[in-house]
Amino acid sequence: MMRRCALVLAIILLVSPLVLHSQIPGYGTEIDRRVDELISRMTLEEKIGQLQQYTYGVSPELQQMARTGAIGSFLNVRGAAQTNALQKLAVENSRLGIPILFGLDVIHGYKTIFPIPLAEAASWDPDLAEQAAAVAAREARAAGIHWTFAPMVDIARDARWGRIAEGAGEDPFLGSRMAVARVRGFQGGNLAAPDRVAACLKHYVGYGAAEGGRDYNTTEISEQTLRNIYLPPFRAGVKAGAATLMSAFNDLNGVPASANPFTLDHILRGEWGFDGFVVSDWNSIGELIPHGVAADCAEAALKSLTAGVEMDMESRCFNQSLSRLIEEGILPLGTLDEAVRRVLRIKYLLGLFEKPYTDPKLEKEVMLARPHLELARLMARESMVLLKNDGNLLPLARKGITVAVIGPLIDSRADLLGTWRCEGDPAQVVSILQGIRTALGDGAAILTAHGCDVTGTKGESIPSAVAAAQKADVVIAVVGEDASMSGEAASRARFGLPGMQEELLRALKGTNKPIVAVLLAGRPLEIPWAADNIPAILMAWHGGTQAGAAIADVLFGDYSPSGRLPVSWPRSAGQLPLYYNFKNTGRPTTDQKFTSRYLDIASTPQFPFGYGLSYTRFEYANLQLDRKEIGPGGQLKVTVEVRNTGEKPGDEVVQLYIRDLVGSITRPVRELKGFQRIHLEPGQARTVHFSLGSDELGFFNARNEYVVEPGEFHLWVGPNSAEGVQGKFTVR
Ligand code: BGC
Repeated sequence: MMRRCALVLAIILLVSPLVLHSQIPGYGTEIDRRVDELISRMTLEEKIGQLQQYTYGVSPELQQMARTGAIGSFLNVRGAAQTNALQKLAVENSRLGIPILFGLDVIHGYKTIFPIPLAEAASWDPDLAEQAAAVAAREARAAGIHWTFAPMVDIARDARWGRIAEGAGEDPFLGSRMAVARVRGFQGGNLAAPDRVAACLKHYVGYGAAEGGRDYNTTEISEQTLRNIYLPPFRAGVKAGAATLMSAFNDLNGVPASANPFTLDHILRGEWGFDGFVVSDWNSIGELIPHGVAADCAEAALKSLTAGVEMDMESRCFNQSLSRLIEEGILPLGTLDEAVRRVLRIKYLLGLFEKPYTDPKLEKEVMLARPHLELARLMARESMVLLKNDGNLLPLARKGITVAVIGPLIDSRADLLGTWRCEGDPAQVVSILQGIRTALGDGAAILTAHGCDVTGTKGESIPSAVAAAQKADVVIAVVGEDASMSGEAASRARFGLPGMQEELLRALKGTNKPIVAVLLAGRPLEIPWAADNIPAILMAWHGGTQAGAAIADVLFGDYSPSGRLPVSWPRSAGQLPLYYNFKNTGRPTTDQKFTSRYLDIASTPQFPFGYGLSYTRFEYANLQLDRKEIGPGGQLKVTVEVRNTGEKPGDEVVQLYIRDLVGSITRPVRELKGFQRIHLEPGQARTVHFSLGSDELGFFNARNEYVVEPGEFHLWVGPNSAEGVQGKFTVR
């Protein structure tokens, strides 16, 4: 009986969540008519030109390419003066006047820098992330940029991987919500608007699963896990209308992602109906040779273009080989034309044919505009996660105390910008020391010391830091990673506090003064000693242009921390990969032998996914489900009452998790399926509503079909992935 039901449901629910049509804003038949008309007038060389993207450094050769229509896109050009000058060469000199597409890594801001994407995800506030992306788009477009290589939507379950900083963490549900928000923020409803840019979902796909957390490393991901974990944020981004994707560097199950017909053609174009184009990652077409799937550039170009990569970022293999491949009849002209069609489609949608230039006046006006800075401060506040606050050490009093601000990063500005700082100018950044000074006002008693370098091995400055601490009432220790220690090619096998910084903390602890540790980093850090011994710990990531001001807002109580971890915080690198939505195993963890555990440390994370403290307290009660049973395609309404029982106003991120108890394949012990950020004044209560339907209850089964299977589900609503009030329901 059970089996038959599953079959029926599988059939009913197979179609709807799979087939999709991308909704690139403005796309329709009129665009394709114009594109086809243009293609009919293009030479082979002009067509191939549209598929090439080179990095720009002023050079007569590249300028000549622009003049002759031999290049479709540049990356790393920026600023109205430079982009307009280059554009002029193409638009006014080339035979068909096809405008150039300028792309850039506008990852978390252009000039106004927001917190790194992982930090933004910690806000669990997609609306704010959308606004942040919109600001980035406004500044970038004014500077002549049409296209950002963002958002990065790679799921990352391994804190060793440096690029964990660039994404939304480990969870497909949160990751999808952030992906949609960022796509909407960058693109808005009209790509041609003077304040929007085309988005690029990257890195398609599986890049975050690099073995050992080592960047660029091989990945092996079953189709089930690909569909249930790694693909959902891409799919959500495509559904939200993302104009482009970037194919990844990694080998995925033996077929590099930049030449993978299954992911690029079958899934992206076939199942999802994607109408935009795919750009390779930097030289990832050329890298098919060292991967060992292409003997030379020509084979690499052929494999990658036929799999579904339409633009070659910097390998120049398309340039070297495509015309010969066409002339020899190896590559069908129709395949080339389809690629050109996709690229030109986006150029039309961006309005480049009508308005190829940017207005230099606008460029001057928008950069670092006051509302942009205010939003950056708000985002930085919301992104910080209070990990520990013994005895309510935080917030600190503003008056009547002497504060020692200690650590190698107290006055760093550049490091607060984090990885991919784009045009972010360190001189415009509010350092932590500056933020604290401003918050405390003139005449405040502030002692400072660096104690040590970020990575150095010399501890000779530690005694003077200890001396400063001894004279203070409270110590604010700012420790962690500099900006170069996360991001691309910045994996760390050991990701504790670098250099002598833990020794510094231990020495400060010896003074018996109360210590608040402010952590700066692009990933969770391995800090078991600090987690046990430092009474208050605030994870402040790399918070961008306004980081120092926002950190002071939190330290002195102008803002109650409300960020929640978008990743499980490991106790040790030995636990990795680590994620909350794990499978139960046949021998779930206990403290007994022959269960799934370590002899030397707990299996649980140091801090769970979804976790973060506040200056106030929230209580959950009265969980209600509007029914105990739902049928296929049904909707279940869930409500819970959340009350602020503390003395301060604050935001709570209310999280809903489910567990499908018995499936045709094993199911995770918990899966996030809803969240809401709410604000509550002291004493105030709010009923929070969620709804669960087939999108939330289903999964891809062993045949890779999307199904909702009948059976019992557990459900939790609470403050993080390890707590919550519990209910249950049945799918009939
Ligand atoms: C990175 C991409 C980036 C590209 C262009 C590559 O090395 O992997 O994320 O967009 O460079 O800068």
